Amino acid sequence: MTVTIVGAQLGDEGKGGVVDLYGDTADVVARYQGGDNAGHTVVHDGEEYKLSLVPSGAVRGKVGVLGNGCVVNPETLFEEIDALRERGLDPDVRVAERAHVILPYHRALDGIEEEEKDDLAAGTTGRGIGPTYEDKAGRRGVRIGDLLDPDALRDRLEYVVPQKKALAEEVFGKETGEAFDIDHLYDTYREFGERLAEEDMTVDCGTFLQERIDADESVMLEGAQGTSIDIDHGIYPYVTSSNPTAGGATVGTGLGPTVVGQGEVIGIIKAYLSRVGTGPLPTELGGVEGQTPDYDPAGASADEEELATYIRDEGGEYGTVTGRPRRVGWLDMPMLRHAARANGFTGLAINHIDVLAGLDEVKVGHSYEFDAADSASNQNAARSDDGDELLTMPPTTEQWGRCEATFKAFDGWEDVDWAAVAEEGYDAIPENARTYLEYVSDELETPIYAVGVGPGREETVIVETPDE
Ligand code: GDP
Ligand code: IMO
Ligand code: MG
Repeated sequence: MTVTIVGAQLGDEGKGGVVDLYGDTADVVARYQGGDNAGHTVVHDGEEYKLSLVPSGAVRGKVGVLGNGCVVNPETLFEEIDALRERGLDPDVRVAERAHVILPYHRALDGIEEEEKDDLAAGTTGRGIGPTYEDKAGRRGVRIGDLLDPDALRDRLEYVVPQKKALAEEVFGKETGEAFDIDHLYDTYREFGERLAEEDMTVDCGTFLQERIDADESVMLEGAQGTSIDIDHGIYPYVTSSNPTAGGATVGTGLGPTVVGQGEVIGIIKAYLSRVGTGPLPTELGGVEGQTPDYDPAGASADEEELATYIRDEGGEYGTVTGRPRRVGWLDMPMLRHAARANGFTGLAINHIDVLAGLDEVKVGHSYEFDAADSASNQNAARSDDGDELLTMPPTTEQWGRCEATFKAFDGWEDVDWAAVAEEGYDAIPENARTYLEYVSDELETPIYAVGVGPGREETVIVETPDE
């Protein structure tokens, strides 16, 4: 059976930790989308591992697969594998031959286009993710399988590189170097291909995973990013270029939807919001220069800034990949209702309730005030009984930006010995925190499987284990 782990919000919900926890009983952990824009933290034996590409299960000796829906930068892949080997691990990583390769010109163009886009820039991680998925959809991409076939690699590069060079030089007026040089790219990527072949790393992902399932093994599907930065279901254009939502798990691995649908789909929720990147955020507290639209530090409320700084520091809300301070806000329930529907969650893991401990009051954006006449498609959106409040996200980001959150306040909870709470179980969680958790679970009509009370693996209250 499969267990699919999906970010319910804007990424960084603590997916890596949950994969590590529930992945213990899995034989294989496969990523189905994204690339080295992910930053998944796993704490194992007191050691912290920050993984961008290698599936989180690899730290614990599971077979890690990068599915066909991923975009793979071989340089990052081998750096991560080598770094794990230096720390005494022996990661077993397989890569789908159908996965697309991130080439140096993709990274260069990611940076160039972000600069050019100005207000429309998503604040990307600069890893070349968007340009690589563009080439995949444009049928001019290079796939992992091509790295093992010198003639195919040469043919593809000869077609695509002059176009990319012209784009950079003639459209954007930039100078280009090695990143746009066919011979250099061919030599370098052939070598990556040879290493992939020598280490027997490439697979036909769907067949590989199905065979493991048929042999009664358990497969975990590890989503990166989150539902609200999904290219179809997120806050376009401030999104990533793939589908972190559960549908991506089938397309991005080659397992059928019925296979994935027979398993569990666990939504990972952070007990508040964090966001690296741009675009609106109705429940935002304070703001971050360069990311919050039209942010004016002089006009910001001191109380909100203080609260935001407190949560940012307590939660270590600085980007795993880029080190950027993350924007923070209260939990956004319309965003979560949207995620629960788009993914069909069977269970929830709610993390970081320890970070909010010690606050007098914890708020959530329960609904949005939004003028129904603003958009025809909102006529059929979920609304409160009196019809004035929107209970889920509107379909365009511009409409979302006009939504004002209506908050619900919960009494805060005290800071406690969270490791002891994790050991004792759910009932040891402070009562006010349980009220908060149960509100989320009731609103989403989905049971709580786990509650994160600290960054360590042991700091998780397990309520339910997916395959039992
Ligand atoms: P991912 O991208 O979803 O895997 O999440 P990240 O690893 O980018 O960010 C989550 C951060 O929060 C990591 O530093 C985790 O160690 C940490 N973390 C995860 N769960 C909890 C929790 O319940 N409480 C606290 N305090 N930290 C947590
Ligand atoms: P994990 O897996 C949070 C955001 C970027 C940017 C947008 C597009 O750690 O949860 P991209 O480089 O993907 O083209 O950037 O998506 N973003 C993430 N935000 N967590 C992530 O991954 C993210 N991966 C991309 O900040 O706004
Ligand atoms: Mg992350």
